Formats: sequence, structure tokens, C-alpha cells
Amino acid sequence: MAIPLRSVLISDEVDPLCVDLLKKNGIPVTCKYGMSKDELLKEIPKHDGLVIRSSTTVSAEVIAAATNLRVVGRAGTGVDNVDLEAATAKGIIVLNTPGGNSISACELTCALIADLARNVSVACQSLKAGRWDRKLYSGSELQGKTLAVLGLGRIGREVATRMQAYGMKTVGFDPIVSREDAAAFNVEKMELEQIWPVADYITVHTPLIPQTRNMINDKVFTKCKKGVKVVNVARGGIICEEGLLKALQDGRCGGAALDVFAEEPPKAPVTRALIEHPKVVATPHLGASTSEAQMRVAVEVAEQFVALANPSSPYSVTGV
Ligand code: NAD
Ligand code: MLT
Repeated sequence: MAIPLRSVLISDEVDPLCVDLLKKNGIPVTCKYGMSKDELLKEIPKHDGLVIRSSTTVSAEVIAAATNLRVVGRAGTGVDNVDLEAATAKGIIVLNTPGGNSISACELTCALIADLARNVSVACQSLKAGRWDRKLYSGSELQGKTLAVLGLGRIGREVATRMQAYGMKTVGFDPIVSREDAAAFNVEKMELEQIWPVADYITVHTPLIPQTRNMINDKVFTKCKKGVKVVNVARGGIICEEGLLKALQDGRCGGAALDVFAEEPPKAPVTRALIEHPKVVATPHLGASTSEAQMRVAVEVAEQFVALANPSSPYSVTGV
């Protein structure tokens, strides 16, 4: 059954290919970025489709105000900025573009692992500040080290296979990936309690759900190798920020690379103490920020809207 889309609001900046494809298929589009909550509450009743990235929060209040809304499309992977329960209760379809930015998130993760090993960012900062600190920024090789990948889905497995090219041993955990499936991409599946004492690097690639919130915490750091390095390009909150800061301060953690934070602008400022720690490399949620990923997710979200409006179009709905 076709879902009439007479007006689609795009409330976060997405690649122009999204607007082009919607308009080409006769779907009118309004682009309004950076709206306050009140502005969004006023705007949303005029639209039956909404395209977002990560800045717009589609809360229960927004859903309640959305008297005509039929579909929310996330140009990205995580739908944690949408109140799924409220949307489902109102019969609003929520879809995403899983996979469109996986390679970009994977490549940033690999870059951050290499950065942690060789102090690239901190040494660069020091050099730009006029110092010549060769001794201070001596690093360690990745070859022969053990990388633990928590979450062996789209991104986790791509990270594992790329880091194997550095000569890293890869171990991992995922409740829905069997030992045999993991072995097919050269990851040794282990239980978390077995992983902590053997990992030199731990990278998380899970969704943020109750089971993964604070998955790496103060207590976990006491079970890890002294100086373990951790990477989070998934979601803030999977690594407990308070526990991480404590472990960095007492040397249990030898370095952290963070692309995501428990609180992020525009909603709230990030935890400065972590970002300012000398052993932290941080990026402002750049995992999906490549031209290729942004073009892919923009097209994928638009194609799914067209598929809903016109089921006989060549497109289909692929994101949950
Ligand atoms: P995915 O769904 O393909 O994989 C996630 C995996 O985590 C699944 O296989 C799932 O079984 C596993 N998992 C669930 N609970 C677990 C647990 N308790 N322990 C271990 N594993 C568990 O997702 P993906 O596309 O690989 O994305 C991974 C994460 O990266 C998501 O949080 C996503 O939102 C995030 N992401 C961030 C960026 C960024 O810009 N930084 C970009 C893309 C995706
Ligand atoms: C995602 O879940 O896809 C990421 O957070 C990427 C983003 O949209 O910035």
C-alpha cells in the first residue's frame, strides 16, 4: 500500500542527493536545519515525512505534535535519537540506512588504533606548539598485539579484517555470532571475562542498549592488561566515561580514542576532562563524515521514501 508523502521535512543537513531524488520522484521537500525544539514542534505537523541525521531528537513530545507524520528516515545507522516506542504506538514507520556508512566508521576506527599506537595526533600537537619531543612520543608496534572487537556486526568485522593486515591477533565477542562464524573472518570468539586479560586494544562496535551501557567500566579496567588501549567509534556510554578517566589517571588504561561521547552537542557539551587528557585522541563524531558515506546514506534514505510513496518504483525499504 502506498503511503502518500505530500511533504517531507529534512531537519539535519544531509547530502543534496537526498533532496534531488525525492523531488525527481514528485515528493515536495522542505529543508530546515538547526531548529530549536519549539521550532520543530511548530513545524512538524505540516509534514508527513521527516529525514534526520543525529542532531534532531524525535522525542515522544515531537511524535505527539506530529499529527500527519507517517515516516521518519535516519540518514545513518543508529536510531537512538528517535523514541521508537512513541513512534510505533502511533503507527509511524522509522527506517535507517544500515551499512551506508559502515566502511567510513571502520576506517576511522583503524586510523584511531594506529594513532594510539604511534602517538600521531599528540606528537603533531606538540610539534605545532614548537616542541621536538622524539623520546616522549615513542610508540609500539601493532604487529603481534591482540585486538578485541566487541560487537562483530557490520563495522566490527570490517575493523577486524583490516587490522589483521597489520599482523594483529583478533579476538571478539558478540552474543549472536557463533564461534564458527567469527572464525570465518579470523576472529577468535571468547567470553568477555576471557577477553579482558588478553587484549592490548579493545574496540567497541555495539549499539548502545542496556546490556552494553558501561560495558567497559572501572571494574573491567582492573581485569584488563595494565595499559590497555580502548577505542569507541560506536556510541558514547558503552565505555563508562568516569571509569575511563579514572583508569587513564592511574595508568590502568594506556590510551583512549573516542569519536562519540555520553553527551554530545548540540544537546550538551562533551566531558572536557576526558578530551583534555593527554592520552586521549578525540574526534567530534566523525565516523560517518566522508563524502562517500554521506552520499550513500542520503540516496538510501530517499530511495526508501520513494519506495513507500510508490511501491512500484524500483526501490525497496531496507532499513529497520
Ligand atoms: P550492527 O548492528 O551491524 O552490529 C552491532 C553488533 O553488536 C551486532 O552483531 C550485535 O549482535 C552486537 N551486540 C549487541 N549486544 C552486544 C553485546 N552485549 N556484546 C557484544 N556485542 C553485542 O551495527 P554496526 O552497523 O556495526 O554499528 C555499530 C555501532 O556503530 C552502532 O552503535 C552504530 O550506531 C555506530 N555507528 C557510529 C558511527 C559514527 O559516526 N561514529 C557510524 C556508524 C555507526
Ligand atoms: C550513525 O549512527 O550512523 C552515526 O552516528 C553517524 C552519523 O549520522 O553521524
